[in-house]
Amino acid sequence: MKDIITVEVKTRKVDFTQCKTQLLALGVFAEEKKLDQLTGQLDAKLDGEISRLLELGDFKGKNRTSALIYGNGRLPAKRLLLVGLGEKKKATLDTLRKASALTANKAIAMKAENISLALHKAFGAKLDPETAGQVTAEGAFYGSYRYDEYVTGDDNGRLARLNVELVDSDSAKIRKLQRGLSKGAVIGNAQSYARTLANRPGNIINPPALAQEAKKMAKAAPNLTCTVFDEKQLTAKGMGAILAVGSGSKTPPRFIVLKYKSPNKKANKLPTIALVGKAITFDSGGISIKPAANMDYMKLDKSGGIAVLATMKAAAHLKLPLNIYGIIPSAENMPGGSSYRPGDIITTFSGKTVEVLNTDAEGRMVLCDGLNYAVKQGCDVIIDIATLTGACMVALGKYRAGLMSNDAKLLKQLQKAADKSGEKLWHMPSGDEYAEEMKSKIADLKNIGSKWGGACTAAAFLRQFVEEKKWAHLDMAGVDVFESDTNSGAAGSTGFGVRLLTTYLINAAEKE
Ligand code: BES
Ligand code: MN
Ligand code: ZN
Repeated sequence: MKDIITVEVKTRKVDFTQCKTQLLALGVFAEEKKLDQLTGQLDAKLDGEISRLLELGDFKGKNRTSALIYGNGRLPAKRLLLVGLGEKKKATLDTLRKASALTANKAIAMKAENISLALHKAFGAKLDPETAGQVTAEGAFYGSYRYDEYVTGDDNGRLARLNVELVDSDSAKIRKLQRGLSKGAVIGNAQSYARTLANRPGNIINPPALAQEAKKMAKAAPNLTCTVFDEKQLTAKGMGAILAVGSGSKTPPRFIVLKYKSPNKKANKLPTIALVGKAITFDSGGISIKPAANMDYMKLDKSGGIAVLATMKAAAHLKLPLNIYGIIPSAENMPGGSSYRPGDIITTFSGKTVEVLNTDAEGRMVLCDGLNYAVKQGCDVIIDIATLTGACMVALGKYRAGLMSNDAKLLKQLQKAADKSGEKLWHMPSGDEYAEEMKSKIADLKNIGSKWGGACTAAAFLRQFVEEKKWAHLDMAGVDVFESDTNSGAAGSTGFGVRLLTTYLINAAEKE
């Protein structure tokens, strides 16, 4: 088994035209009438090649395009990559993050091991250098990521590592860039970790294997502990819902609890936050079995739990002044002689009973025990994340996750984190009408609603397990995976949620 690409990020103070590197990346906005100072300087050294490209229209600075110029001895840089940033007035933080990802992606393809990024320069005073450093680092991790650990043989034609430096000629700016870059590296690294775990298939990662991985991760992180409940402990605790979902599989369920306790006393004054993530290591649908087409994608049904795992890793390494629980109920949903069945009535950890009308609605089952555990631990804010419903994917497509909540302030805070992290959300309802559909005649609840509004009824089910706590639910079905390569990311797990949740936590630690 081969290691995933190692990425190293750092800063360097250097005069741009003197920057010796395998590749120097520069951002260019579309429809700029004249070159900015930096691009102009380089253009002069390159016999006007940049202006010619623009004049001929071969490169117009359009978003997600790029042009490569060879230094040919005219610059200490071997290559200059011009990266299009689109219209200046439409630019966001994610424009810079994606430009960095595109550059890192190209560097891996052309085997340029040492690259220098000056992408932030084009944004000028519009962007503070600390934030620029953070998102550039995040993008570099994102774009260089490849999942090929089980492809044997040679190096698969790719680099083993990528060394990225952010360059600037101003030492005050360098210090700020460095501060953001250190944060961005922790987040980017955690997101790549999430993508690797999520991409591993069901025969490699089952619930006990995921629990082992969580323990290993926690051991290597400061102030983080990991407790795992096995099937015997789950039975003793009365966690009937997760047990029911796991009952058809040869590999038993595990309930993973990560606890981050900040050494900073300030943390005790802040609310305790719980992150709860669905980790179905494979979702066949169980007795209500899924059709065969694309069933392999259901190895990614653990993505919510893994987003929580990786966010806890990032939070601990960032030493955030907060107390945080990471709760990951994990099971494999399989058909078999001991599976739970349609019609079964299950007593959940909360004491509420659920009539199972479809064994494929298993995510809400494992989550209801996870959510109620957070309530019983006394957490003040509870956020769950899950690849929960195909209906959410139908409603929102591939670019936004669903956001449901019982608290207006939490809703705002998550929207803000979404804007900053570039992992976008869309608010959807989950109130009383939807909850009404989840009532059963022979139990307290049933696990499916009517034909319509499946993402909303699923959320309305979950909402009933958080009592009076502030709660939000993120339905990430649809945004969990890229079906094919794009110029800013490889096919497979997107690692969605890691940047979003970490940003939410950073904000919570900073102000409340
Ligand atoms: N894991 C699936 C949801 C899913 C579907 C995620 C497609 C990603 C892509 C979930 O467990 C599921 O099967 N949901 C059912 C619920 C239904 C039975 C009420 C669904 O959406 O069809
Ligand atoms: Mn399912
Ligand atoms: Zn599922």
